[in-house]
Amino acid sequence: MASSEGNKLWGGRFVGNTDPIMEKFNASIAYDQRMWEADIKGSKAYVKALQKAGLVTQNEMEQILTGLDKVFDEWSKGEFKIKPGDEDIHTANERRLKEFIGDPAGKLHTGRSRNDQVATDMRLWLRDTINTLKELALQLISTMVERAAVEIEILCPGYTHMQRAQPIRWSHWILSHAVALSRDVERLEDIRKHVNVMPLGSFFHSPELNFDSISINSMDATGQRDFVGMYNHAANFTRHQDTIRFCFVCVLCVYFCENSTGSSLMPQKKNADSLELIRSKAGRVFGRCAGFLMTLKGLPSTYNKDLQEDKEAMFDTYDTVHAVLQVATGVISTLMVNQPAMERALSPDMLATDLAYLLVRKGMPFREAHSCAGKAVYIAESKNIHLSQITVEDLQTVSPLFDKDVSSVWDYNRSVEQYSAPGGTARSSVTAQIEHFRTWLQAQKQKP
Ligand code: ARG
Repeated sequence: MASSEGNKLWGGRFVGNTDPIMEKFNASIAYDQRMWEADIKGSKAYVKALQKAGLVTQNEMEQILTGLDKVFDEWSKGEFKIKPGDEDIHTANERRLKEFIGDPAGKLHTGRSRNDQVATDMRLWLRDTINTLKELALQLISTMVERAAVEIEILCPGYTHMQRAQPIRWSHWILSHAVALSRDVERLEDIRKHVNVMPLGSFFHSPELNFDSISINSMDATGQRDFVGMYNHAANFTRHQDTIRFCFVCVLCVYFCENSTGSSLMPQKKNADSLELIRSKAGRVFGRCAGFLMTLKGLPSTYNKDLQEDKEAMFDTYDTVHAVLQVATGVISTLMVNQPAMERALSPDMLATDLAYLLVRKGMPFREAHSCAGKAVYIAESKNIHLSQITVEDLQTVSPLFDKDVSSVWDYNRSVEQYSAPGGTARSSVTAQIEHFRTWLQAQKQKP
């Protein structure tokens, strides 16, 4: 359809038609319509500020408010019809308002540009969705913590460099991810403070918008999207660092039920697709972040249309993290731990450090004890036996301090129990972690 410039918000000084390809390229309505509610909320607060400033009459304000309520109604019932020429959500809502109330609609834009409006809408949208992500992250943490509490007796190998290193409690491993996620929650809270800043000075005091603070400089306010960059960056942590590691190990050591799928060729297969998909999203979320930071790089001051790229980066990151957190919660709550397999994965060589500690307890400096335990590992390897099968006589060739009491070392449970300091693998330390999280989760829920 040929567009008529006269109907455009900025159409006054333009003649002729826009190239339809450019029209499509320019439009953001396909995605920014998600902010319809924020846009109306912002406009309602704005018209009240205009009335206070004497720029619209009481009557005009009431007409605009009623009209905006009708627009709201249409969106919420899914009845709002986007028309050609509705370039973005701001244009669409104002066009519809005008259809409802006529000329007074034109007064709503007094002293405000879409550049201000988009910055306001995005902040409103993002601040609410940060709350949603936070809630989902808390659910995931809580699921992990309760699982850790129930399965505290299960032992498995702890890995470093992708190699089995020392025995740990399975709960200790789950909680390591809960800790990482709790940092993400705190990061989200911090970012929310940067998001919840009113970019338009004039209606900061609007109680319904509930901003925490006000932007100090109008040029900065319309031209900056640091808050989107921070959000996308934080999403990389929520998604990448923690969940990826979590997926790696889950793929290695557990057995899935509801969150796995079969192979179309090999009937015996049970694939951990949920976790592989979560892992795969790292590239996507990182790409969104890096791409948008590149867009921001070197932009001239205030608003430039480049900034229109902010929304898809923000929405896609939100949608991805929103799904990832829920799927991860599903996995953690339904996976079945293959306890025998986990315990079979424990082997005596994982107690080599404990062998060194035995010597340390007998007075040997750790460096020397480490070397003696290393020699014992060498003997076991060259005899093709387990470390625990070396005879006391053979051990005594390494150090005369070895004695019959070496047999006490070959006990995985004893091994995890020796680390009873805060953060350790002992039952008491893991229980303390669980208690810490229960209190922390409770405090999070009570936050306003
Ligand atoms: N759709 C635009 C965006 O998303 C809104 C602001 C347009 N401003 C302008 N002067 N063209 O950024």
